[in-house]
Amino acid sequence: MSKTVDIDWENLGFKYMKTDYRYISKWKDGNWDEGKLVEDNTITLSEAANVLHYGQECFEGLKAYSTKSGKIQLFRPDMNAKRMQDSAKRLVMPEIPVEKFIDACKQVVKANEAYVPPYGTGATLYIRPFLIGAGENIGVKPATEYIFCVFCMPVGAYFKGGLSPVNFMVTEYDRAAPNGTGAAKVGGNYAASLLPHEEAAKKGFADCIYLDPATHTKIEEVGAANFFGITKDNKFVTPDSPSILPSVTRKSLVQVAKNYLDMEA
Ligand SMILES: Cc1ncc(COP(=O)(O)O)c(C=O)c1O
Repeated sequence: MSKTVDIDWENLGFKYMKTDYRYISKWKDGNWDEGKLVEDNTITLSEAANVLHYGQECFEGLKAYSTKSGKIQLFRPDMNAKRMQDSAKRLVMPEIPVEKFIDACKQVVKANEAYVPPYGTGATLYIRPFLIGAGENIGVKPATEYIFCVFCMPVGAYFKGGLSPVNFMVTEYDRAAPNGTGAAKVGGNYAASLLPHEEAAKKGFADCIYLDPATHTKIEEVGAANFFGITKDNKFVTPDSPSILPSVTRKSLVQVAKNYLDMEA
């Protein structure tokens, strides 16, 4: 009999929950090992691992959904796989082949099937792949070993209130420099966003809106989401900047606006 879990699907926040299995694969001497599912949710690292000192880390976030017919589907995992390759390149880390990335996500979802929220509950299974510089190194140079992991957990909406309007605050801080790492999904960008986020939260806002770092005159993106608007004359507008994270949601919405809603985008 397949496992069942006692979860209040309708009232899940965006919080960590330990599920049963995660995937881990290691890179050494130019090659990825085969990778495997494990139950242990801890990682042992040398004190000299690059990730701990120089932030050599990138990650992804994607979701699995239960469909009406009872299937489980990932949303465009190939796009997350490619974005992770771009992030890895920016931090001089070995790329994870697209097939390996998708296979790891599928293995983790299958092994944790009991945690995939049922259709219609509003909850989803959030999948978090990440890649870190491991091994032993003290100079500022790329790591000699790497670890790629994927774990997952059921979540509700990221912003409290889901699709109901959320208040954001324009911040004076920059998230990323024009030629920096804004387009890469790397931990350092998120470390830099913690203080602006805290300040916005203290004032009662859900998150910050960042302006373009060069002129502070145009909207760039939100702390955890791209920005888009629809003009009075029905145009879909979204900022175009090298320091914005290329969002899979935004790319998908542009496609929907152009191809299904006949909008200018
Ligand atoms: C800074 C930032 N921008 C945009 C997004 C949205 O990206 P996606 O649509 O690929 O989930 C995220 C997602 O976590 C993010 O952290």
